[in-house]
Amino acid sequence: MADENRTPEYNDSRIDRTLLSPEAEQKLAASLTAELPEAIPYLPYLLQDLWELGSNPRHIIELLSEHAALSSDSRILDLGCGKGAVSVMLAEKFRCRVKGIDIFPEFIDYALVKAAEHGVSELCEFVIDDINHAVSSEKDYDVVILGAVGDVLGKPDATIEKLKNTLKPSGFIIIDDGYVAEGSDSTYHSRKDWMLFFVKSGVMLIDEITSDSEEMAKINSCNQEHIIRRANELKLLHPDKSDLFDKYIQNQQAECDQLKHDIIGVTWLLQSVT
Ligand SMILES: C[S@@+](CC[C@H](N)C(=O)[O-])C[C@H]1O[C@@H](n2cnc3c(N)ncnc32)[C@H](O)[C@@H]1O
Repeated sequence: MADENRTPEYNDSRIDRTLLSPEAEQKLAASLTAELPEAIPYLPYLLQDLWELGSNPRHIIELLSEHAALSSDSRILDLGCGKGAVSVMLAEKFRCRVKGIDIFPEFIDYALVKAAEHGVSELCEFVIDDINHAVSSEKDYDVVILGAVGDVLGKPDATIEKLKNTLKPSGFIIIDDGYVAEGSDSTYHSRKDWMLFFVKSGVMLIDEITSDSEEMAKINSCNQEHIIRRANELKLLHPDKSDLFDKYIQNQQAECDQLKHDIIGVTWLLQSVT
């Protein structure tokens, strides 16, 4: 969803890349549709007009409202929280405590502003960290969310194991990802692959919401307009990097096309059973 009220002056991201291994950098770039880590310093500028960066917070609220009895005592961990759209909306809806972790300082700054705007600052904590570290130290949550973060924590079964370690017994996991649409020749995980990952890692699929591809296409095309505008501004500022910004726009478009034709976006609600 676009949020056009803020237009910061251009600065390279303040991200501390020494926190990340080269592999984590590559995956971070990929999680935001950039092919090359070289694009990392520019991502906060390119995405400045958006608040929701991947997951649909309304789907997550719907799943948790239906199946998890959350109260003001509940604790939610939002890994790769981006600009805090999911964290803030969950705190607002359930009045529970939410901790969001992301590696971009600019995203965390934005999340703090949004939490204040929505009157949930006292319920939300936002921290800059590599989620590969956070999964070892964060414990005893009622819900852990990995929303549109891709393979940053590894393959799905390894990822689920790591997420389970952050939970209380019988805690819930939300994963926002996708599976290959019927008839597509994409090599991404099929629905059957996901079911096998769930069994292997000792979680039960409780419910799911698939994204409406028409609705997604509308949102994506609106987002794409903002991103193209910002990429064109960057091209004027850094003409030597025009190819990098053009490539970013192409990748964004390719991802939108994939979500229209090849991949079904899905929010899974899982529960730890072992
Ligand atoms: C597509 S965005 C999704 C953001 C948010 N979950 C949402 O749905 O709005 C992926 C997020 O993962 C974060 N990320 C990727 N790798 C990370 C890492 N190793 N540590 C912390 N955050 C990371 C990115 O900075 C980005 O904000």
